[in-house]
Amino acid sequence: MIILGIETSCDETAISVIEVEGDLENPIFKTLSHVVHSQIKDHEPFGGVVPNIAKREHIRNLPYVLVEALHKAGLILDFKFSILNKIPNENIPNSKARECWSDFFEQIPKIKIDLIVVTVGPGLEPALWTGIEFAKALGEKLGIKVIGANHMEGHIASVLFGKNKEKLNFPAIALLISGGHTELIYLKNWRTKEKIGETVDDAVGEAFDKVARMLSLPYPGGPQISKLADRAREERVSLNHKFPRPMINSGNFNFSFSGLKTAVLYYLKSLPEITDEIKLGVAREFEDSIIETIISKTQKAILEYQPKSLIVGGGVISNLELRKNILNLNSKFPELKILIPEKELTTDNATMIAIAGYLNTINKQDYPLEAQGNLRIT
Ligand code: KG4
Ligand code: ZN
Repeated sequence: MIILGIETSCDETAISVIEVEGDLENPIFKTLSHVVHSQIKDHEPFGGVVPNIAKREHIRNLPYVLVEALHKAGLILDFKFSILNKIPNENIPNSKARECWSDFFEQIPKIKIDLIVVTVGPGLEPALWTGIEFAKALGEKLGIKVIGANHMEGHIASVLFGKNKEKLNFPAIALLISGGHTELIYLKNWRTKEKIGETVDDAVGEAFDKVARMLSLPYPGGPQISKLADRAREERVSLNHKFPRPMINSGNFNFSFSGLKTAVLYYLKSLPEITDEIKLGVAREFEDSIIETIISKTQKAILEYQPKSLIVGGGVISNLELRKNILNLNSKFPELKILIPEKELTTDNATMIAIAGYLNTINKQDYPLEAQGNLRIT
């Protein structure tokens, strides 16, 4: 079975083609193509993702990304690329998007694909909407069924790929940490899952990005802060000031990062000058606060739910200090299998969406084809 996945929930325009073999309960996934077009450059001047710019860019990028994904998968051989120049570089009202893709779809030949899966939420609604409209138009053109997938279930499903597959045992806990989400999810099996904790305000990656901005570091700030924090540890620079560990003893599995961000802001405002050494110290103390909170909550969830596996997804797991601390949980819980997807699958991509869609067909889980910004795990 060949599945095409489409992901546009935030600032990545992504399309993947995967092949699924084996029986339904024990599938073997193979990537035929995996294309991700990041919009970081378009949002950088604003210090964060701007929903209407994301929408405009998805409308423009989707045809390019589709052609590249089909081409890499060997499903189309040549294509009149000049047709892509006809797509306007401006913010198009929703009612006009299909019209501006119509010449492009005219050129798409019959393709051997069995199913199209598109992210329907959670995410930025204008951005989600473009992917859904594109998927529907492609499905109509090719006569292929289109189904929806939950972005967060995609992050969880990404561990089904590659070498991790053998090791995943249920029950499991998933820790999802990205620019848009901070969630702990309990999975009895692929069918039965429950969100047990989430951020009550900023997502963890968002907190990294906002604090980076206070330190005049470019967007996205997570990797920048993490570089400074690593340097601070190496050079033994630490801050003579403690930031809070918000909600660390709240007795539930929820997170909060907004107070921490404000604490950093007030601290910086109290200083006559922000030297390079202060920046190093702030980055390290801020990162330590985040890591301590995440590890503490995850550890409590493990103690309460006794999972056999811990799945970690989302761009913030690129943070090496956090990753080290997560892997270290094995010293307390030696039986726990800790699963982190391969690097290109930790950040937003469409391979995970194609897999999540496949699981939906097995689990008979149906999502309406409409943008649901606050879609929850069910
Ligand atoms: O999953 P992702 O690529 O996109 C979504 O937000 O869905 O995650 C991006 C987030 C950004 O907020 C970025 O600053 C953060 O992940 N991030 C990091 C690191 N690398 C990326 N945060 C901390 N340390 C890092 N090394
Ligand atoms: Zn994501």
